[in-house]
Amino acid sequence: MNAVTPAQLVPFSLKNAPALIETVFPAQKVSFEAQRERKAGPGQTLTALGSYWKGRKPLILVRAVVLGSLLPVTDDAEQDLELFEALMGFDLSGLGRRAVDYQGALKPAQIARMITLNNPWDYFSYKIEGGNEVREEDVDIWWFPLSAEEKGLKISWKRGISDEAKADIYAKALATISTYEERSLLCKRPEEVDPVFLLSPVWIKVNERLGHLGINAHSMTQLIEQLGVLRYGRRPKIGDTFSGGGSIPFEAARMGCDVYASDLNPVACMLTWGALNIVGATPERLAAIKAEQKKAIDSAQAKVDALEIERDSNGNRAKAYLYCLEARCPDTGWLVPLSTTWVVSPRQMTIAKLIPNKARKSFDIEIVSGVSSAELQEATAGTIQSGCMVYRLDGKEYRTPIKTIREDYRGEGGEAKNRLRRWGKNDFKPLESDIFQERLYCIQWIKASSLEAARPETFFASVSAEDMVRENKINEIVSKNLVSWQDLGLVPDMEIEPGSNTDQPIRERGWTHWHHMFSPRELLTLSILRNEIQTPELAPEFCGTLDFCSKLSRWIVRFSSGGGSDFTSNVFSSQALNTLTNWANRSFSEHNFVQDYKCETISTSSTIRMSTADAVDEVIDIYVTDPPYADAVNYHEITEFFIAWLRKSPPAPFNEWTWDSRRALAIKGDGDDFRRGMIDAYSAMAKHMPDNGMQCVMFTHQSTEVWSDMVGIFWAAGLQVVAAWYIATETSTDLKKGGYVQGTVTLMLRKRSAGEKVGFKQRILPAVRNEVAAQIKQMMHLNDEVEARMGEPVFNDADLQMAGYAAALKVLTAYTKIGETDVTTFALRPRVKGETTVVDEIVQQASEAANGLLVPEGVALDTWQAIDGIQRFYLRMLDMESAGASKLDNYQNFAKAFRVDDYTKVMASMTANGSRLKQVNEFGSRELTDSTEIGPTWLGHLIIAIQQLLTDVEPQSVVKTLMEDLPDYLEVRPKLIDLVRFLENKSRNEAVRSAAEVLVSRMQTQRLDS
Ligand SMILES: C[S@@+](CC[C@H](N)C(=O)[O-])C[C@H]1O[C@@H](n2cnc3c(N)ncnc32)[C@H](O)[C@@H]1O
Repeated sequence: MNAVTPAQLVPFSLKNAPALIETVFPAQKVSFEAQRERKAGPGQTLTALGSYWKGRKPLILVRAVVLGSLLPVTDDAEQDLELFEALMGFDLSGLGRRAVDYQGALKPAQIARMITLNNPWDYFSYKIEGGNEVREEDVDIWWFPLSAEEKGLKISWKRGISDEAKADIYAKALATISTYEERSLLCKRPEEVDPVFLLSPVWIKVNERLGHLGINAHSMTQLIEQLGVLRYGRRPKIGDTFSGGGSIPFEAARMGCDVYASDLNPVACMLTWGALNIVGATPERLAAIKAEQKKAIDSAQAKVDALEIERDSNGNRAKAYLYCLEARCPDTGWLVPLSTTWVVSPRQMTIAKLIPNKARKSFDIEIVSGVSSAELQEATAGTIQSGCMVYRLDGKEYRTPIKTIREDYRGEGGEAKNRLRRWGKNDFKPLESDIFQERLYCIQWIKASSLEAARPETFFASVSAEDMVRENKINEIVSKNLVSWQDLGLVPDMEIEPGSNTDQPIRERGWTHWHHMFSPRELLTLSILRNEIQTPELAPEFCGTLDFCSKLSRWIVRFSSGGGSDFTSNVFSSQALNTLTNWANRSFSEHNFVQDYKCETISTSSTIRMSTADAVDEVIDIYVTDPPYADAVNYHEITEFFIAWLRKSPPAPFNEWTWDSRRALAIKGDGDDFRRGMIDAYSAMAKHMPDNGMQCVMFTHQSTEVWSDMVGIFWAAGLQVVAAWYIATETSTDLKKGGYVQGTVTLMLRKRSAGEKVGFKQRILPAVRNEVAAQIKQMMHLNDEVEARMGEPVFNDADLQMAGYAAALKVLTAYTKIGETDVTTFALRPRVKGETTVVDEIVQQASEAANGLLVPEGVALDTWQAIDGIQRFYLRMLDMESAGASKLDNYQNFAKAFRVDDYTKVMASMTANGSRLKQVNEFGSRELTDSTEIGPTWLGHLIIAIQQLLTDVEPQSVVKTLMEDLPDYLEVRPKLIDLVRFLENKSRNEAVRSAAEVLVSRMQTQRLDS
């Protein structure tokens, strides 16, 4: 036998090889899986660590970026892509494996109908259904496909069949389904499958294709390490200097990279630490962590129990405490409980009744269960309605704006002020003289007899005298101990610094310190729990508990069954610090302190630093970052809610960090400071990166200005754009915000080569157009090849357009000077409103060059080039709709690309996944006037013409009107005909198609002098 010597892995032999992500990337599949990951809610790998941190980047996206940055490209892009998809679990074999043991997978009877199999009973067993005369001997020789229903069979998987065999059958069946999205929905998400099983068939392919480079891998970690050696001479080191909730370093480490993570914020650092050291722990260590958590909570619980503050004299244990505000009515002098609803539980038909107490000029609150639907309905109208206190007394309704109660006024500088007393550091409840009082009005109890039951029985009760004794006892303890607890760091003593989000509790409640947000009961129980937080593994869960505490935690009452009702929700279900008039607190025993973490053992090395991004001082091979661009989330403010509790004596190693949100150093907003901060950060990263290093920066796709700003920043930092991909990461059906899909641009960058390169706009522009055209041509070619083989193209128009931008930026960012202006000066120059910068212009040119090439099939190039944005938008989207597309982000992106002012005017539906254009017959006459965007265009006139034909106006007079309305009609007639033909071909409405056909033939046959 001829033994072939395996190639040796030569360090740095791929040093200068382009990375796969610079050429191909399955953006559609990654988008789909990213959205699925997001929708998995608590099923996401890092959520158990702290669902209070929002905006973690999808792990699947990180995985794709890291892998795509390390894999090399060959001269066969199709095969490169195939290997990449296999490694991501996107290929058929991976899908088959992902279907095994999935609840939503295809059922055997469905598979029987879908595939051809001549030995089905090697995999499946059957039962002949009762009353069926079929004989087993017959069935035994049947083949698939067959309809189990018609044949009267019940088919199930054969007992003992291996997962491998099942996966093969699933793969066969999934192959008959046309789109990746439909297939994937019948499978688990890739990360839900044991990676050894998922990837076991892939390694042969990997080693075959990359063996000549010395790659010999049997797991992802081995492959990553070997690819790292080929490029960087070592296991690759991935850095994220804005690590937040830690998904980037976590995923990179899980894949086998060494990681460097840093963030300015200690809560972010704690969560990143938790991702790597708790979720990333070994099974033994994780078990020990859970045991430690259990010990801590048990110890705290025993101390709380000893205080006898959560049980009544019948042994019932409290589950939740419901509170409301009270304020005095200026008209009557009565103290009125305030709540937006007095429904307590739709499930138990429970309401709170306000009973006037004339002697005390206040209301007793009685909790009544089992009320009628009418009473329940009546209770939905609370005493807070549209910003007013509203109540009835002796048959009369009193209505006072809350503003009046708070005595709002404008300060000297016009700022909003009021007469609420500012609470002092030692306050822990309102003073009797305060405008707003706080009142416990209802307790939900668990019956003593059902405490140990799987489904404990609960009931709601009014607050009794006995309960008040317990409340008073708590108040006394807190009053006596607050100062010492604060000194010891068991309760916050930190001031609430004003800010966009933090102003709200100060202004609306007079709270000045973070502990004011917590009830006395919580201050007591949380001080006990805080005392137990002596090791870092306990800290993220302590914050998880805090998230379900405070006066910002809602009592959820829902009448529909979806989402459940009667529970306390977490503070950070929104990313703000909204005050509430009624709220609820879980009793201490109801907190879920011990979490069911996934175990994803990480064995590579990691560094976590609390520092600003510009402080990076070690060499990182690949940076993957998600900077705080115009962030809707003010992490630097809202995380103080947690920092306040942990900042004194945090457990080691967290004690090495500054427990302060360091707001002043946070990069925020989108102004000049933001740009300066970003340039500093990315310059430092570019400096601490080898010459062949890479960067992937993720940011939300918004507008051309965002592009220009971001590109300017990276350019000034010495980086050059090499690719860009658009990933739809989140969907929202929030129509109030216009219904939107949040897209993430992943921009790939490399170091710009040393030396000065001066360019001039006039020369750059043609180079940009050439590069864009070359890029798109190359991608379209790959599309054709893959579509011919797999039935589905790789890239859609949005990808092509994004690649067009990237190509343009690649040309541009290779220069160090444009004319006289160097790039740093350019990037730092304050933005002048309405100004079009050279980057804006080039991005726009790129978009136009790309759009010019993306002519919908059936439209002639010269017609396309003669029409403006709204018409191009309409035709392009009509074309995409006819291919089944209906995603809102496509419409959004193309509207931006074609510079449409208001695309919503031509939309019939704008749901995230069910968007569509108005059909020709659906436009109202007011939508087609000269004052609309589409009205005065050729298309607008042609739509009117078709509509006229639909109302039986004579074709001759329809064309006559067209001629009158369009002065250059005769000249442009071929183009108009082209447009009507397109409408005819693409319209879903039969009548419109016929009318368009009539119009075309009339326009064609019309005599020029008619
Ligand atoms: C968009 S978040 C990152 C989210 C993260 N990728 C994740 O998956 O959770 C941006 C992060 O940047 C951090 N940050 C803001 N200014 C910073 C600075 N100057 N240096 C370092 N980090 C900063 C914030 O604390 C925040 O955690």
